[in-house]
Amino acid sequence: MFWPTLTLLGISSLPLALGTTYSTWAANSAITRGQGNGLNASGDPVVTYEHGVLQWALRLLYEKTGNRSYYDYITEAANNILNENGTVVSVYHPSEYQLDYIPPGWSFLYLYNTTSDERYKVGADEFRTQFETQPRTPEGQFWHKGAYPEQGWLDGIYMGDVFYARYTAAFQPTNRSAWDDIANQFIEQYSHGIQLASSINATNNETYLGLLYHGYDDSHAEDWASPDRGHSPEVWDRAVGWYVMAIVDILEGSPTTDETFFMRETIRSQLQILSRALVKAADSESGVWWLVLTQPGRAGNYFESSGAAMYIYALLKGVRLGYLEDTDGSFVATAKRAYEYATANWVIPQSDGTMDWNNTVIVGSLEPGNDYEYYINEPININDLKGLAPFILASLEYEALVGA
Ligand SMILES: *[C@@H]1O[C@H](CO)[C@@H](O)[C@H](O)[C@H]1NC(C)=O
Ligand SMILES: *[C@@H]1O[C@H](CO)[C@@H](O)[C@H](O)[C@H]1NC(C)=O
Ligand SMILES: *[C@@H]1O[C@H](CO)[C@@H](O)[C@H](O)[C@H]1NC(C)=O
Ligand SMILES: *[C@@H]1O[C@H](CO)[C@@H](O)[C@H](O)[C@H]1NC(C)=O
Ligand SMILES: *[C@@H]1O[C@H](CO)[C@@H](O)[C@H](O)[C@H]1NC(C)=O
Ligand SMILES: *[C@@H]1O[C@H](CO)[C@@H](O)[C@H](O)[C@H]1NC(C)=O
Ligand SMILES: *[C@@H]1O[C@H](CO)[C@@H](O)[C@H](O)[C@H]1NC(C)=O
Ligand SMILES: *[C@@H]1O[C@H](CO)[C@@H](O)[C@H](O)[C@H]1NC(C)=O
Repeated sequence: MFWPTLTLLGISSLPLALGTTYSTWAANSAITRGQGNGLNASGDPVVTYEHGVLQWALRLLYEKTGNRSYYDYITEAANNILNENGTVVSVYHPSEYQLDYIPPGWSFLYLYNTTSDERYKVGADEFRTQFETQPRTPEGQFWHKGAYPEQGWLDGIYMGDVFYARYTAAFQPTNRSAWDDIANQFIEQYSHGIQLASSINATNNETYLGLLYHGYDDSHAEDWASPDRGHSPEVWDRAVGWYVMAIVDILEGSPTTDETFFMRETIRSQLQILSRALVKAADSESGVWWLVLTQPGRAGNYFESSGAAMYIYALLKGVRLGYLEDTDGSFVATAKRAYEYATANWVIPQSDGTMDWNNTVIVGSLEPGNDYEYYINEPININDLKGLAPFILASLEYEALVGA
């Protein structure tokens, strides 16, 4: 193998090349391919969450390594989607109320902080303004998109609320109503979507894990909405990944004050419960997770790579920053084992010195007819940022753990 790991020397999951880590290797490979820079494959501006996630990973990598190229890449990416006056380019359509547009706003907040350039504040304000009129369920949760009425998705919690929290932390840190509003997003999503042992659908061969269904429809209009709480039928690995990443990132990015106390306790306790469930849900042989967690081993199901990367990041970061109590060591042990599987199975060295990342499913949505067959029939992708960026995040945490 071109980039053998150090497993034989007892140091697992670090690439052998001197001075290289998986985090830099994966990031440099993405940069070489021109990914996540605010432009699409035809070189036109694109405002999309997966670019925001890569830029977040590059920021952490810049803070770790001091390599200015990462910072410059974030700047270039943000500038690619801002007009001269700081407004967001016209491919952003606020009237669609898509939370998926928002994550590149993290880079605006970051660059405003480091440069004080007002253009970044203008862009961040424009995204924040979307929330003012974002349609909500009767209980106050943001709709995932204007086109998905009354629906709360785990994905949207990450796309919307991480920015909401970072914006509030930067400009309105004592705004109690904003912090409570963020807490409420999590409360609503969790109460509608946590799997209950008492209402497992035996006809659907559903396995009880105590995790969160992909989403819910408060109006019960969708054909997939369960009769009780309107939730979708299956637990999709990446959706749960977005949710737990949102929790650790919001805990890290929000101040510890009286105003944030309720929000922090709410999401921290959810993280503790979900992390225990994730440890139990890991496949006992491989140590990683099924694409459709509720249907382990069923024909067509497979070990998907974006969800695993997200769980590794959330578990290790949660323990490192003290949000999770890892009393029996199982959170770290589970994350390490999964990380070793990931580097051995999903990293593919290329002859030009870059690496490819495999087995990330391209999409999972809640269209009419949502069911098990839908998820397993979505294709996988090589170097999909929805898995590759979380792999950089997972690698940064693994490297912090082992001191690399
Ligand atoms: C810094 O990052 C850039 C961009 O990926 C990479 O090309 C370069 O080799 C890195 N520099 C060092 C000293 O590692
Ligand atoms: C890039 O974006 C432009 C403008 O939105 C669009 O017309 C074009 O089809 C996109 N290209 C790709 C490859 O997605
Ligand atoms: C900012 O610039 C864009 C693009 O040139 C333009 O459409 C918009 O009207 C400007 N907005 C303001 C507030 O000047
Ligand atoms: C940048 O963030 C730090 C930490 O939150 C804060 O103390 C500082 O005032 C911010 N600077 C600017 C220019 O926003
Ligand atoms: C505080 O947050 C609420 C909820 O997001 C918002 O409507 C309000 O404008 C904010 N208040 C201030 C003073 O920023
Ligand atoms: C449940 O499992 C049984 C036995 O494997 C299978 O025949 C049936 O089609 C499954 N039901 C659904 C809804 O997938
Ligand atoms: C249980 O699953 C079956 C098969 O997918 C479905 O037809 C049925 O509506 C579900 N029942 C409930 C109560 O959700
Ligand atoms: C990527 O994963 C798929 C599915 O597991 C596999 O069929 C394919 O061979 C892998 N690609 C490479 C280049 O290893």
